[in-house]
Amino acid sequence: MSTLVVGGAGYIGAHVVRLLADRGDDVLVVDDLSTGVGHRVGAAGLVELDIAAPDAQERLELVLREREIDSVIHFAAKKQVGESVERPVWYYRQNVGGLVNLLGAMESTGVTRMIFSSSAAVYGQPDVDIVTEGVTPQPINPYGETKLVGEWLMADCARSWGLRWSALRYFNVAGSGWPELGDPAVLNLVPMVFDRLADGRRPAIFGDDYPTPDGTCIRDYIHVLDLAHAHLAALDGLDGEPGENVFNVGTGTGASVREVIDTIGEVSGLDVTADIEPRRPGDPPRLVASPDRIRDHLGWKAGHGLSDIVRSAWEAWQAGPRRI
Ligand SMILES: NC(=O)c1ccc[n+]([C@@H]2O[C@H](COP(=O)([O-])OP(=O)(O)OC[C@H]3O[C@@H](n4cnc5c(N)ncnc54)[C@H](O)[C@@H]3O)[C@@H](O)[C@H]2O)c1
Repeated sequence: MSTLVVGGAGYIGAHVVRLLADRGDDVLVVDDLSTGVGHRVGAAGLVELDIAAPDAQERLELVLREREIDSVIHFAAKKQVGESVERPVWYYRQNVGGLVNLLGAMESTGVTRMIFSSSAAVYGQPDVDIVTEGVTPQPINPYGETKLVGEWLMADCARSWGLRWSALRYFNVAGSGWPELGDPAVLNLVPMVFDRLADGRRPAIFGDDYPTPDGTCIRDYIHVLDLAHAHLAALDGLDGEPGENVFNVGTGTGASVREVIDTIGEVSGLDVTADIEPRRPGDPPRLVASPDRIRDHLGWKAGHGLSDIVRSAWEAWQAGPRRI
């Protein structure tokens, strides 16, 4: 197996690169290092390339041919919701344009296997307790739209030239599989709490008057190592009979913002008394995945719970430059 991991120098991609390399697959990374870090790819080769650039398709064709790639796992995207609202054209150019270049290169070189990073953001604000893949996607920001458009495009390529694909709709990713591969961005709850604590500030809770048991938002937290294993299951699943293409990746269990912050307090031994700040627009009260489809079709199931997630994220944070 020769697999190209596009965006493999990023947080999630680097975990998948390591698992693939550990099981003996031939792995190559393409990344422009816009948010990724070169040394995270380990022994896998790295081709620095912006997949959204005008000459990207040609350059990707060369890589696919020369390295005899047979599968692609595609992580490379911009992922900040607020930024996507401010810069929709750029988000479409990066996330959709980059995918167009990649699929164009795959089509012209005959590479037909693809795993795609999608997101729970495709669902928007679904009014259900448990989100199955049957819930109609209704993204509420350009970021979520670019992921849904990506899924549509791959379905079209499957009909047109036989692309075999799976899209994994990740819920809330956190933790680290190895301390040196922690999440370097401060965009999600766990690193945001660490970041505030490192500055000697209190963690923030955005709204404590939601219709949930403790008034704070509930999310489905998935350990990045479990998520990485889901990619290997999806990749191997492409060899089977064509079936479902879209899979939630979550645990089926929700945790509230307050529960996560309390767990951080238990793991770190720090005072995590939080400040209550106003709600953020577009935050649904509850977003929890049904993980049944991926279990039934790909045999994948999350193995780690919230305390494992927080403990591993804490170890990674403490191994980094802003140790508390
Ligand atoms: N982290 C999450 O909570 C989360 C949740 C849902 C979905 N996702 C999706 O998972 C994927 C990976 O996310 P992540 O958290 O690892 O993010 P990340 O920013 O750490 O990784 C993205 C990688 O892609 C690279 N990249 C970005 N644009 C590129 C371009 N034009 N050309 C080449 N390389 C490019 C970056 O340098 C980086 O290494 C993204 O597609 C993201 O939308 C992430």
